Amino acid sequence: MARKKILITREIPDEGVKMLKKKFDVDIYPHDRPIPRRELIKRLQSKRYDALLSILTDNIDAKVLDAAGGQLMVVANYAVGYNNIDLEAAKERKVIITNTPGPEISESVAEHTIALMFGLAHRIVEGDDYARAGRYKYWGPQLLLGSDIVNKTVGIVGMGRIGSSIAKRLHDGFGVKILYTNRSNNKDAEKQFGAKRVSLNELLKRSDFVTLHVPLLPETHHLIGAKQLKMMKKTAFLINTSRGPVVDEKALIAALKKQSIGGAALDVYEFEPKIPYALRTLSNVISTPHTASATIETRQSMSRRAAENIIAVLSGKKPKNKVV
Ligand code: DGY
Repeated sequence: MARKKILITREIPDEGVKMLKKKFDVDIYPHDRPIPRRELIKRLQSKRYDALLSILTDNIDAKVLDAAGGQLMVVANYAVGYNNIDLEAAKERKVIITNTPGPEISESVAEHTIALMFGLAHRIVEGDDYARAGRYKYWGPQLLLGSDIVNKTVGIVGMGRIGSSIAKRLHDGFGVKILYTNRSNNKDAEKQFGAKRVSLNELLKRSDFVTLHVPLLPETHHLIGAKQLKMMKKTAFLINTSRGPVVDEKALIAALKKQSIGGAALDVYEFEPKIPYALRTLSNVISTPHTASATIETRQSMSRRAAENIIAVLSGKKPKNKVV
């Protein structure tokens, strides 16, 4: 029997690729950049693939699915988020969509988020810039004064796996008070870390750090805008490692310029990969290029998960991480 065919749209860490190569014919887009849409469509039309392993910059919509043809059984997205995929179009065409959630990715994103919090509070990036520029001439009692995290209040918007991991580490290690919003109560977080579920407005008013962990959905688009930023304390920090459009970037830039909040740390942007000039130059901002999950352990585990999902579907089994 002919081997099934897989297209991987961008080189990924190798463990899952090796698993797939043992069983299937695997093509990988060879360049170190996202596959252009036209190229993706052309490749899908030229070879009848049974599975597609996509990354979050690939827009998988009806046109792409139709180009792939009716034999396409699964699109395994190499990400937890799947806002780059038209789920309705996939359902209509009976194409299974999978993602790559798991404890490893939650831990990595939680660690990165906490690193950003510390970076802001202790002004690590500003200090590094200062030292590199050769500006450190004398020790100063008021040089780069920051703030502590211990005993502060952290507001977690979305108490899922990542939110819980952040709550655990900050509660156990630094005695922070945890406020959270979520669609439903997270009893474990309440019992284990004393987390208190409150309204978004109350969370914004009371928190020293506000960190976002919600998926991008119509109801979370611009969840944090001018009105919400105004509710935050003048000293509070906003951290976003979820999806860029959850924050109204224009409103955030205005708040940062006015210093009506203490600062922000961002791993995601409204019009990614575009990072507005203001966010790249304001001293009360830390930016990373969507690398919150970029540890070798996590990116390999995502590679294995995506491969396992494809192998399951192509062997007629239910994949572990089915989205639709
Ligand atoms: C995800 O998984 O959705 C991250 O944003 C990228 O790893």
